[in-house]
Amino acid sequence: MATRIAVAGGTGTVGRLVTEFVRQRGHDAVVLSRSTGIDLVTGAGLDTVLAGVDAVIDVSNTLSMSAAASVRHFETTARVLATAELRAGVRHHVLLSIVGVDAPHTSGYGYYRGKLAQERAVAAAGVPWTLLRATQFHEFAQQLFQRTRFGPFVLVPAMRAQPVAAREVAAQLVELAEGAPAGRVSDVAGPRVERIAELARRYARAAGASGVVVELPLPGAVGRAMRQGGLLPAPDADVRGPAYADWLFEQTGSDGVARMPRTVGIAGIPIMRSPLPAPPEPSLSNARELVARLRTAGMPIALTVHGDERRLPAAVDQAAFRALQEAVSLVLMRTRGVEADAVVRYLPHAVEIEVTHGAARLTPQASRSETLNRSRAQVRRLGGAVSSGPTTEGGFRLAATIPIPTPT
Ligand SMILES: NC(=O)c1ccc[n+]([C@@H]2O[C@H](COP(=O)([O-])OP(=O)(O)OC[C@H]3O[C@@H](n4cnc5c(N)ncnc54)[C@H](OP(=O)(O)O)[C@@H]3O)[C@@H](O)[C@H]2O)c1
Repeated sequence: MATRIAVAGGTGTVGRLVTEFVRQRGHDAVVLSRSTGIDLVTGAGLDTVLAGVDAVIDVSNTLSMSAAASVRHFETTARVLATAELRAGVRHHVLLSIVGVDAPHTSGYGYYRGKLAQERAVAAAGVPWTLLRATQFHEFAQQLFQRTRFGPFVLVPAMRAQPVAAREVAAQLVELAEGAPAGRVSDVAGPRVERIAELARRYARAAGASGVVVELPLPGAVGRAMRQGGLLPAPDADVRGPAYADWLFEQTGSDGVARMPRTVGIAGIPIMRSPLPAPPEPSLSNARELVARLRTAGMPIALTVHGDERRLPAAVDQAAFRALQEAVSLVLMRTRGVEADAVVRYLPHAVEIEVTHGAARLTPQASRSETLNRSRAQVRRLGGAVSSGPTTEGGFRLAATIPIPTPT
C-alpha cells in the first residue's frame, strides 16, 4: 500500500538514495532539509509538511565534530522532529546511526557522542521507532575529499572499517519504514574489512581526484580503537552489497588499484603516470565520448563502431558499456603505450564488444589470463558471454557478446 514517507536529510549522500527508493516503491516522498525550506533545528514549517505522513526516515546530519555541538544538534533535531511527528500522528520513526557509537572508548569522539544522544532521544520521544546502525559508506572516501582537505592534503583517520554501499543502506531503510516499528535491528555492513586511507587513495586514482591522502592516527583510546578494528561490526551483522573495489568499478570504470601507464616518455619508457579520466554516463551511446576522454588523457586507444547503431534496452546498454570500459582499462594497463583498438558491433540480435592490442612489451602487472572479471556476472545474467586470450599476431584480445532481447 502506498504511503507518505518523509526523509529528513533527503538531499544528502544516503538521503538522496533513500528518497529515490521511496519513490521507486510507489510512495510519496517528502524531503526535509534546509535546501527544501525545513530547518530541523527550529522546526519551522514542519507541521505543514508532516500532514498525512505515515513514517519518517531520519538521515540528516551535522558536520560538527565537537562533542558539545554534535550532541546539541542531534538532540535538538531528534526532539523537534519527534514533537512535530506526535502532533501530525506519524506512526513510525526510522533512524540511521553508526556501528560502534556505543563501543567502549568512543565517548572521546565528539561526533559519536552526538549520534548516541540522538539514538537515546529517539527512543525516549514517544514515536514508535526502528534503529539501523550501518558502517561507513563506500561514499565516505569521497566525502573526506570534500570535507577534510587542507591545501593539497586530504586528512584521513587511521581506521579499519567494513564499508557498505549507501544504496544498500538506503534500500534497507525504506523496507524498514514500510514495516512495523522494530526497535534496534541487526547492524548492516559491507563484505570486506578495509583501511579508510586505502579507500581514499583508490577513490582518488579511479575518479581522478587531486590531493595527497595523509593517514592520521587519532589520539586517545578512540583513535586506538579505530586503528585496531574496535569499531568493526560484530560477526552477526547483516552483510550487504558489493565490496568497495566492485562498487568503485561500477561508479568509475576503475577499481583504483592500478593506474594506466601514460605514453609520455623517453624511448617508449613511460616517465609519468596519470589517473583515469572520469567516464561519461554508462551508456554504449557514450562509447565515443569514453574513448575521446581517454585519448585526451594520453591513452593510445581507437574506436570503430559497426552496424546499425541504435538505442538498446537499458540493461544491455549499461552492461555493454561496462564491458567496453573494463576491456579498455585492462588492455591499456597491460601494455606500455601500444595502440589498442576497440570495436563495437551492433548486430541484429546482439551487441559485441572487442578490444585488442598488438604485440607489446607488457607492464609488470599484466597477466596472461586477464579476463573481464567485473563485467562477466552482469553479461552472463543477460545471457551473454565474455572471452579473452592471445591473438595470432602476438597481441591480446578481450571480448563480450550480449544478446538483445526482441520486444514482445
Ligand atoms: N557517511 C557515512 O559514512 C555514514 C555511515 C553510517 C551512518 N551515517 C549516518 O547517516 C546520516 C546521513 O549521513 P550522510 O553522510 O548521508 O549525510 P550528508 O551527506 O552530510 O547529508 C546531510 C543531510 O542533512 C541535511 N541537514 C543538515 N542539517 C540540517 C538541518 N539543520 N535541517 C534539515 N536538514 C539538515 C542536509 O541538507 P541541507 O544541507 O540542505 O540542510 C543533507 O540533506 C548521518 O546521521 C550519519 O551519522 C553516515
